[in-house]
Amino acid sequence: METIKIGMLGIGTVAKGTYRTLEMNRRKIEEATGVSLEITKILNRHPERDRGIDIPKEKYVTDADEIFHDPEIQIVVELIGGIDTATEYMAQALASGKHVVTANKAAIMANGQMLQELAQENHVLLRFEASVAGGIPILTAIQDPLAANEFSEILGILNGTTNYILTQMTEHGTNYAVALRDAQEKGFAEADPTADVEGIDMGNKLSILISMIYGFGLPQSQIPTKGITDIASADIEFAKEFGYRIKLLASAKKKGSKLEASVQPTLVPEDHVMAGINNEYNAVYLSGNAVGDLMLYGKGAGSMPTGSAVAGDIISVAREIQKGSAYDLTPPLRYDAKLYYNGEGNSKYYIRLAAVDRPGMLGRIGSVFGRHGIGIQTMIQRSGGNSYSKTVPVIFIVYDINRSNLQTALNEIEQEKSVMSVENVLRVLK
Ligand code: HSE
Repeated sequence: METIKIGMLGIGTVAKGTYRTLEMNRRKIEEATGVSLEITKILNRHPERDRGIDIPKEKYVTDADEIFHDPEIQIVVELIGGIDTATEYMAQALASGKHVVTANKAAIMANGQMLQELAQENHVLLRFEASVAGGIPILTAIQDPLAANEFSEILGILNGTTNYILTQMTEHGTNYAVALRDAQEKGFAEADPTADVEGIDMGNKLSILISMIYGFGLPQSQIPTKGITDIASADIEFAKEFGYRIKLLASAKKKGSKLEASVQPTLVPEDHVMAGINNEYNAVYLSGNAVGDLMLYGKGAGSMPTGSAVAGDIISVAREIQKGSAYDLTPPLRYDAKLYYNGEGNSKYYIRLAAVDRPGMLGRIGSVFGRHGIGIQTMIQRSGGNSYSKTVPVIFIVYDINRSNLQTALNEIEQEKSVMSVENVLRVLK
């Protein structure tokens, strides 16, 4: 049986899941592909550290060049994370004529186009299925079985860490810091979880999906993005009272030649399918003009689910090697569409104010909304006990409005003397 040799950069959470998946299912993979896949070298800068996995020590190398210069290695798997060094390593591997598999959404978002061009020039393949939604095969689905469709909308829960935190806060009243630590211990979070909780990781994934589905280059930095760090338990409880669950959602909508996109915590109606996606599970909902509405659901983070996706890409590359296919004629990421980018578009919004419960307060707030043409769908005010001095939460859900027009009204509302502060503003899914 032919052996295809693989070099792996990194021995973190996803790398271990990849190694374990290939070992655990070795016989099944060999039967299915007719080749033996052998990870022969692993870049591990600290071979003395206990990595919690049984790997023969002789596989470890401390210099990446030992992998790039090994003529027997045909596939390089990049799993070190981060942008600059990872990109440099992938570029070096491609330039050395090696196929590359990665799970690195940040590097693919930032440098995917350059890396694809390099892969083409060097007649090798670049695969990154694991970069979006972990174990869910969304990128392959878009490229092959769904390729015949035009999609009007993408809706995604694309980050396991934040979905886990919000689920724990919603279902068990867990404190944010405790839920985050738990997500880190379970191997869902990035090494630095800032990118998770600030929505940047989800923005990177949405940017990749947008370029694959709409052929439009929209860097994460241009996508309006809000994370979950200022979601208070009060927001979660009020949302429940209104019949919603708060989810960090990525959304993109194509309306004619206009594209809208955002990543933000969103009140999702509790009977909407996205409201039931919990913990580290991710989901991608697509509305296609041939297939209709479709949802892919599965584990979006964690060692084994993400390792499964990386291993799948390795197998796909191995099959191409066997067939003698050199490279992708049409690389999956595209940046050629002429679309007008229209920001986050209009939406319903939830607004939580802190205001002093005294006569006239609601009337003044209502008249500012009215002057700006903002309709109120629902409101709740907690009692201040008729003391005329107690600050209480006042919650509104307002009808469809542009975020910047809403902000103008909220700036005015904040000047009202009974209003102490605007505590939170969250999008509401229709
Ligand atoms: N930190 C990421 C998440 C890992 O929580 O979804 C998968 O990309």
